[in-house]
Amino acid sequence: MSIQFKIMKNLQKADKEIYQLYKKELKRQQETLSLIPSENIISNSIKEIIGSNLSNKYAEGYPNKRYYQGMKFVDKIEDLAITRAMKLFDVAYANVQSYSGSIANLEAYLSIINPQDKIMGLDLSSGGHLTHGSPPSFTSKIFKSVNYNVDQNGKLNYKKIEKIALKEKPKVIIAGTTAYSKIIDWKKFANIAKKVDAYLVADISHIAGLIVGNVYPSPVNFADIVTTTTHKTLRGPRGAIIMVTKKGLKSHPDLIEKVKKTVFPSMQGGPHINIIAGIAVALKEASSQQFKNYAKHVINNSKILCSELKKYGFNIISQTTESHLILIDLRNKNIIGNLASEALEFVNIVTNKNSIPFDPNPPFYPSGLRLGTPSITTRSLKEKDMKLLAKLINQTIEIIKTEKAKQKLSFEDEKKKDIRTKIIFNSKSKLLKIKKQVIKLAKKYPIKL
Ligand SMILES: Cc1ncc(COP(=O)(O)O)c(C=O)c1O
Repeated sequence: MSIQFKIMKNLQKADKEIYQLYKKELKRQQETLSLIPSENIISNSIKEIIGSNLSNKYAEGYPNKRYYQGMKFVDKIEDLAITRAMKLFDVAYANVQSYSGSIANLEAYLSIINPQDKIMGLDLSSGGHLTHGSPPSFTSKIFKSVNYNVDQNGKLNYKKIEKIALKEKPKVIIAGTTAYSKIIDWKKFANIAKKVDAYLVADISHIAGLIVGNVYPSPVNFADIVTTTTHKTLRGPRGAIIMVTKKGLKSHPDLIEKVKKTVFPSMQGGPHINIIAGIAVALKEASSQQFKNYAKHVINNSKILCSELKKYGFNIISQTTESHLILIDLRNKNIIGNLASEALEFVNIVTNKNSIPFDPNPPFYPSGLRLGTPSITTRSLKEKDMKLLAKLINQTIEIIKTEKAKQKLSFEDEKKKDIRTKIIFNSKSKLLKIKKQVIKLAKKYPIKL
């Protein structure tokens, strides 16, 4: 099957450089399989509206309370996005203006606490996000930040989290992850937050689509605020939603106003109305039975991929997965995440290197690999494809492992990009055979244009 392109007549004439680069990127997407768990593929309906003339409109403020004229229809669009989010997630209020998940988290914290107050979130190396108070993030500079970790078995230990909370008395506890494959016990987090009189913010960026698909528990009965990106499992355009739960509103009646004021005018200017319309469309799509089936398949595919990888001797952090995501500890394969992900990219399987809990290596040369199934499930890959994918991943890693062992390379050698490239180059003929199979698989399930 040949690669499909939707000819962009105007762009082709107006800006050849961008057009050609886009064409190459589209070919890359079509011929590769993305196993990056935070990536997905938007529908053509979403694509149409985010690339529309809605981008022309300035809309500072909120529906019926704007600073510009010409808002008749734009107000209705934002209202639809808000009411759809409120209904789908069953919350008291949804703010759909945040530009991204990182900004949404900062806005959530600034709505409820002051600079220098204390926040407590999962450590980056345990699977937390930068914006959960990690040292390189602005969230640890504006606020005092303490972290909790997973245990040696890769799982959250709620007793230990409670102990840290009782000692540190944070004003906000953040529950949510970016590289954790087990189900989060929201109730336990709520009990801990209650004991120390902290707000509970649940960041469901990775799992929002699984939650609305009813295959992962929702935090809305336990958290005060819920934040999410809209472009991961929720399969919408790049953006974010900040939600005030009914529980949060009951104990803090001013919470909606506080969130609104923090997003605009405190942190942001004009909202991206084209994206808000895209979010509205995504929310409509996510409320369908078809989406529920999709969410179920995401988890099925993830579980099958995980168990197949285990058969090949891959060590899985926390042993199994209960979500869209799989975190592999590569130490028994004796290669670092960089070499593994670069070799996999060579065979057109796109993944990301990732730290593992208690990683002996630094974050830029981590010992782990993170995989996920949202994007390939949108492309309709099925159980038998997961088996093939696991086989191809294993073959790739084995080839590279053997080549690295032949060269007797140390960790310091492996950190050098040119040495890693050479290992891959030396294995080229074997890897190309795998690449051919991946391209065949990818072309069998094209991204619909
Ligand atoms: C849990 C979590 N929160 C927040 C974010 C930030 O989202 P964005 O990249 O849109 O700023 C991410 C992104 O990876 C995430 O995984």
